Amino acid sequence: MKFFVDTADTKEIAELAETGLLDGVTTNPSLVHKAGRDFMEVTKEICDLVDGPVSAEVVALDHEGMMREAEVLRKIADNVCIKVPLTMDGLKSCKKLTGDGTMVNVTLCFSANQALLAAKAGATFVSPFVGRHDDNGFDGMQLIEDIRLIYDNYAFETQVLVASIRHPIHVLQSAKIGADVATMPPNVIRGLFKHVLTEKGIEGFLADWAKTGQSI
Ligand code: E4P
Repeated sequence: MKFFVDTADTKEIAELAETGLLDGVTTNPSLVHKAGRDFMEVTKEICDLVDGPVSAEVVALDHEGMMREAEVLRKIADNVCIKVPLTMDGLKSCKKLTGDGTMVNVTLCFSANQALLAAKAGATFVSPFVGRHDDNGFDGMQLIEDIRLIYDNYAFETQVLVASIRHPIHVLQSAKIGADVATMPPNVIRGLFKHVLTEKGIEGFLADWAKTGQSI
C-alpha cells in the first residue's frame, strides 16, 4: 500500500520524505488555507520535495472552469495530479484529462456507485472519505471493501486512495482490504511507528548496555 501525506505543510512533508516511506501528497483548499501559503507556490515546493503524485484541487464547479484551472495547475510540475470533485462536471473533466495523459484524483467519494463512475471516467485515483463517512453514521471501511470488490470484478485500474483517515486502525483496515493508497495526516503517519513495547524495549537495552561500559 502506498503512503501519501495529507497536508500542505512543507516542513512536515520534508521531514516525512526523509524516511523514504512517502509515496505522494494530497492537498485540498482547506489544507492550503491552514498552511497560510500561496497555492501555486506551495504546490511547486511540494512537487519538488516528493517524486510521487501531488494532488492539487480545482475550485471551479463547471467543466470549462475546471479544465482552465487544470491547465494552470498541470504546468507546475510533471507530478501534479489534478483533483476534481465527484460531480458530473468533475467526471467529464476527469475523462478528458486522463485521456490526455494527466493524472486525476476524483475526490469527495461517498458511495460505491460514485466510485464505479470515477473508474469508468478513467480516474487515476478515487478518494473515498472514510472519516467523514464514519462521522455521519455510515461505515467508512465497508465502503472501501465494496469499492475494492467492484474494481476487482471488472479489473478497473483506478487506484483506491483511502482519504479522511483519522487513526492508525483506519490504515490497518485499509491494508487488510487491499486499498492501493492511504493518505494520512502527518500525526497518523508518525503514530504508525509507535508501540509502547518498542519504547520500553529500547529503554531496557540501553540501560543494560550502559552497564557493560562499552561503546560502538
Ligand atoms: C483527501 O484527499 C482529503 O484531503 C482529506 O483526506 C480530507 O480529510 P478530512 O476529512 O480530515 O478533512
